[in-house]
Amino acid sequence: MVKISAQHVIKEWELGDWVVRALDDVSLEIREREFLVIKGPSGAGKTTLLNLLGGLDFPTQGEVFFDTVKINAMSEESLAAFRCLNTGFIFQNFNLISSLSAIENVMFPMEMAGFTVKERGSRVHTLLERVNLKDRNEHLPFQLSAGEQQRVAIARALANDPPVIIADEPTANLDQTTAEFIGALFATLKQEGKTIIAATHDEIVASHADRIIYVAEGKITEEKVLREIPQIPSEHALNPPED
Ligand SMILES: Nc1ncnc2c1ncn2[C@@H]1O[C@H](COP(=O)(O)OP(=O)(O)OP(=O)(O)O)[C@@H](O)[C@H]1O
Ligand SMILES: [Mg+2]
Repeated sequence: MVKISAQHVIKEWELGDWVVRALDDVSLEIREREFLVIKGPSGAGKTTLLNLLGGLDFPTQGEVFFDTVKINAMSEESLAAFRCLNTGFIFQNFNLISSLSAIENVMFPMEMAGFTVKERGSRVHTLLERVNLKDRNEHLPFQLSAGEQQRVAIARALANDPPVIIADEPTANLDQTTAEFIGALFATLKQEGKTIIAATHDEIVASHADRIIYVAEGKITEEKVLREIPQIPSEHALNPPED
């Protein structure tokens, strides 16, 4: 089943009289439970593509579907609510809120998703344990190492148990051990049913991917399938045939 699809997407930025075409007629389908890696040189359009696939930005032309929902036709407000439940973002520079502790950063998206205070309290501990950070709960971002900050950011991305994780160079500033941890965590999340899209140059992370696409000058130039994604039986197939 296709989870996210981009159809003939163009993204242009206007800078005075100058127009930068960051994405140039990109069409792409990402299947449910797929782990897709995006590679390409600086300025190729990787971040722009991730932002459109995750509903952080709108295309200039073309359409983006998440399940059957056309997300580029949504209002900013509905899209924010949609993202909160459906997509967890992980960024290269972590984007943690500097005045909030690890625990508060992870709980932050839960409020919008409607979890009670009690639920938030129990969820946050499980999430921080999952990223091996249970004794760093009260630390502020500046009191954490880069690898620890990124693990808090991953726990935050998982806060509302979204079906899709989008990661933009998640290991770019991190040590080898943390990169290995993140690659292995993505592989486990995929086994648990998540769809993962990551822009990365990290070979450790990319080794867990099902497919790698290469982007250059706003276009997909190459695709490599590393693993076939098992077909999920349709609901139809689960029901016995009627007599
Ligand atoms: N907000 C913006 N305003 C104007 N131009 C932009 C904006 N964001 C991106 N661009 C341009 O779009 C193109 C693609 O940028 P993008 O950030 O998607 O590249 P990238 O592949 O992620 O690069 P990197 O590997 O350096 O992160 C670049 O030429 C960039 O200058
Ligand atoms: Mg980028």
